[in-house]
Amino acid sequence: MAESMVFFSKDVLIIKPPKKSAVVLRLIVFTFSMVFGVYVCSICFKQINIQTKNMFLDNEVIERPCCNAIVDRSQIPFLHYPKPKTFDRLECAGNPVRLFAILSMQRSGSGWFETLLNSHVNVSSHGEIFGPKIRRENISSIIKTLDSVYNLDWFTSSSKNECSAAIGFKWMLNQGLMEHPEEIKDYFNDKGVSIIFLLRRNVLRRLVSMLANSYDKGAKVLNGVHVSHVHSHEEASALSKYKPTINISSLALDLREMEATAMKALEYFNSTRHMILYYEDLIKNPSKLMEVQDFLKLPRMKLTSRQVKIHKGPLSEHIKNWGDVNRTLYGTTYEKFLQADY
Ligand SMILES: *[C@@H]1O[C@H](CO)[C@@H](O)[C@H](O)[C@H]1NC(C)=O
Ligand SMILES: *[C@@H]1O[C@H](CO)[C@@H](O)[C@H](O)[C@H]1NC(C)=O
Ligand SMILES: *[C@@H]1O[C@H](CO)[C@@H](O)[C@H](O)[C@H]1NC(C)=O
Ligand SMILES: *[C@@H]1O[C@H](CO)[C@@H](O)[C@H](O)[C@H]1NC(C)=O
Ligand SMILES: *[C@@H]1O[C@H](CO)[C@@H](O)[C@H](O)[C@H]1NC(C)=O
Repeated sequence: MAESMVFFSKDVLIIKPPKKSAVVLRLIVFTFSMVFGVYVCSICFKQINIQTKNMFLDNEVIERPCCNAIVDRSQIPFLHYPKPKTFDRLECAGNPVRLFAILSMQRSGSGWFETLLNSHVNVSSHGEIFGPKIRRENISSIIKTLDSVYNLDWFTSSSKNECSAAIGFKWMLNQGLMEHPEEIKDYFNDKGVSIIFLLRRNVLRRLVSMLANSYDKGAKVLNGVHVSHVHSHEEASALSKYKPTINISSLALDLREMEATAMKALEYFNSTRHMILYYEDLIKNPSKLMEVQDFLKLPRMKLTSRQVKIHKGPLSEHIKNWGDVNRTLYGTTYEKFLQADY
């Protein structure tokens, strides 16, 4: 451009050498039109830019409410529309169902927790479905059982059938779960199963509960029937009269192993969508139940259970050889469990 301008001015100079002022005037007009042209162009570009920006903005404005209204996209992998073989979901066929599993250990409050969950009108939690060995003999029988539960083709007293919005069960860590961690983790992730770890911090109280429960299997204190859970304070105090003797020589190791098993389960299933719930927190803080309902995206309800805690009050009243136990654990990391209420 600069070159052609120079040629042009040269031509002008050659053709009309005498009229210097006219040449200057032409140059001014030319320069002005160039500058103006550039200016107009730059404005044009700016406007195009603004317009395209606006187009993006408009799209966002239109898109956002549309997609939020339908569903939170991150939740899609967790929504299921099962078609049970055994019945019709009727008016609830359009409601999504979420799958869950409560991973826990015996005597950690999971029975109580499950009755609370099942008091929700839209929850079916089927208990310890992997109790019978035949259902967990190998990974294919485990998966067959899981498929049947999650397709709503499993019936227990907890089934809410048509209008279940969350379907699950309770799985103890010693019921085949830790023997096939890879396959089960993949199943949970592929199907979008949400995991609730229900753990008990105070493994010493857990041990007392296990020993007492194991004693009652033989003793059958309540009318000759063994029970693991009770519904009245009389029954609770009858059961808690028995004071187990704790084996001191294996105590520290037993407690460590309980903790290690829980930790290992957390590691194995860490990649699943999960929440960790402690029995002690659940007792002290009922709002934990709201967190659970939010985690399962359920409509919030007040959850209730008729179950009554068996071992209440200080641990020293529930252990026969308390002096030995206290001496063994005093000054160790387990000392805190000696005094704790739960
Ligand atoms: C798995 O266990 C079931 C039930 O006991 C049995 O019928 C089946 O043959 C077993 N499958 C394999 C692959 O071992
Ligand atoms: C919960 O159950 C009630 C009663 O059966 C039903 O009307 C409602 O649609 C269910 N809610 C969900 C979210 O499935
Ligand atoms: C106590 O634990 C030790 C070590 O594990 C074991 O050898 C012993 O048999 C146990 N005693 C009882 C009464 O179970
Ligand atoms: C689970 O994964 C998270 C994030 O990767 C990590 O911070 C945490 O330590 C893991 N927990 C266990 C028990 O492995
Ligand atoms: C446990 O032992 C310690 C140290 O001997 C003692 O101070 C404490 O009072 C004992 N606790 C109970 C509840 O007996």
